[in-house]
Amino acid sequence: MALPPAFLEELRARTPLPGLIGRKTRLARNGRQWKGCCPFHNEKTPSFYVYDDHFHCFGCGAHGDAITFLMRAEGASFPEAVERLAGEAGMQVPKATPQAAERERRAKDLYGVCAAAEAAFRRRLMLPEGRAGLDYLRKRGLTEATIARFGLGWSGEGRGALAADLKGEGITPEQLVAAGLMKPRDPDRPEGGLVDMFFNRVIFPIRDRRGRTISFGGRILGDGQPKYVNGPETELFSKRRSLYGLDLAREGAFRGATVVVVEGYMDVIALHQAGFGGAVAPLGTALTAEQLDALWQVSPEPVLCFDGDAAGAKAAFRSAELALPLLAPDRSLRLAMLTGGEDPDTLVAKAGPPAFEAVLAGAKPLSAALYDLLAGPTPPATPEQRAAFRHRLGAAAKSIPDKTLSSEYRRAWLDRFFAEGRSARPAPAARPAWTPRGKPGELVSIRGLQRAAIDHEAIRLERARNLLAILLHHPALLSGVEEALASLDLPSGDCSQLREALLAWLPDADHLDSMSLMDHLRQAGWESAAAWVTRKQGLSQAADPEAQPKEALEAWWHFFSLLRGKAELDHDLAEARRMLEETNDPQAQHRYVLLLEAQRALLSGEAGDQAQPNSII
Ligand code: UTP
Ligand code: MN
Repeated sequence: MALPPAFLEELRARTPLPGLIGRKTRLARNGRQWKGCCPFHNEKTPSFYVYDDHFHCFGCGAHGDAITFLMRAEGASFPEAVERLAGEAGMQVPKATPQAAERERRAKDLYGVCAAAEAAFRRRLMLPEGRAGLDYLRKRGLTEATIARFGLGWSGEGRGALAADLKGEGITPEQLVAAGLMKPRDPDRPEGGLVDMFFNRVIFPIRDRRGRTISFGGRILGDGQPKYVNGPETELFSKRRSLYGLDLAREGAFRGATVVVVEGYMDVIALHQAGFGGAVAPLGTALTAEQLDALWQVSPEPVLCFDGDAAGAKAAFRSAELALPLLAPDRSLRLAMLTGGEDPDTLVAKAGPPAFEAVLAGAKPLSAALYDLLAGPTPPATPEQRAAFRHRLGAAAKSIPDKTLSSEYRRAWLDRFFAEGRSARPAPAARPAWTPRGKPGELVSIRGLQRAAIDHEAIRLERARNLLAILLHHPALLSGVEEALASLDLPSGDCSQLREALLAWLPDADHLDSMSLMDHLRQAGWESAAAWVTRKQGLSQAADPEAQPKEALEAWWHFFSLLRGKAELDHDLAEARRMLEETNDPQAQHRYVLLLEAQRALLSGEAGDQAQPNSII
């Protein structure tokens, strides 16, 4: 079965190799690549390496790509391996037809056509007619080595010059059309003759990730419109899948360069010349999902670099939105902003490499950058604005398919949301963070210490269970305690995860009743955690479904206070009092009273702890 090279290329690009191989053997990250024990021979110390597009075993010499891996590891035939990988990548295997075979032959030829055209353009740059182009590139600060490395050229004046150059190599004008280098003078009258796609322009060859030229861009000298002309879509070239400079950035990333996405051809070239070997650019369009996939093959956390203006913020926002549903723990982004109306090319020209170094160093993790973007230019201040902002945060976190990652985003965002809400009000008195209980210097045996720690953890767990059970049985209380719940340091595992699930459910819940909540939890896969939490034994009466809401709420604050710790609770109280003084509304008063009671409960509870370590109330 002869499959089009472009299809196989894309299939390989869309198959994350560490993921595929990681199913057979445990892999650990080792710098830019992954490492593990070879699945093809018996070994105890790992000598099997997985790179972005191939694997290699230094023990037995096994070597190959995703397709050969499946063939060797599972004894699949080539068509079977392709079929399976395509299925996982959501791709359709093209049918082997005579037309497909013909297309493939043409595509193979097209690489040759592009290579020949590139050579012709490069030759012309060095001829007298290319002088203006060469001067232009030099004036923009490019060295001879850079010009050669990027294969820059000169188109000539057009009028069939390229076809004439390539005739001697047996390349026909029809092939030049197929390669996107010529086009009909009049699209409605193909018989009216062909014209050159590029004339009087500096030429930028566009290469695929393996360094083969697949299309071209051309820049006018000086001002004039259009500034750049790009080759059309062809058998070889798909704008949405290509990134300018990716072939070089792959190498650069391998040597440790930061992979950074900038806007234009000249930015990529200037950055490489300045030593930033990981620079790439999309081809004049917004970043696409396919391009993100290609970037993640090279780096788990590429930096997207945007202008500091409104248009830049919009573009950053669009990219972040595009990325969210595609994120995974090893597929993330950072966002960097330029300032002062510079692009990377002008910045490096004016201020040197350290200036761009600083831009990269200032790149924010996607989570932080997206929080700022979602907050908008002025921080949400009114309750309505803050509520709308939280909805945006909730919706954004929800669009991350990886459950753990999604809840980490939500958690980080809510923490920051509430922290900033607090600091917007008068600053609280310095608060000791999580001061350990117990008197310093007290002599305790190790065994006693371990025992106490175990008891302490068990007690915390039971308290957290009570706290959550109350909410599972009385979800209507959730909106009143949401902030407190989010701020609490809960035991990790079921408790924290269930808390995330509750917080995630709240903004979109139609009815705050126990039935809908339980239904939701069941569907979201939290059934067993919910069952554990609501297990009767050890639950306070106030956590019972039959308890009065008022009683349940009081009990909730009681458990909250026990879990919160004294220092934190003092801080909560001070803040509640300030809120009450500021707003004088009944809800603030209610909260203050509950916290006061909680504090009282905590004080007596702590005494109780010492008396009977197993009581949780
Ligand atoms: P810019 O205008 O920012 O490009 O467009 P630049 O690289 O800074 O250009 P110089 O420095 O003036 O030479 C960014 C990218 O948008 C695409 C090109 O890919 C360009 O590199 N573009 C721009 C076009 O495709 N057509 C245009 O007319 C302009
Ligand atoms: Mn520029």
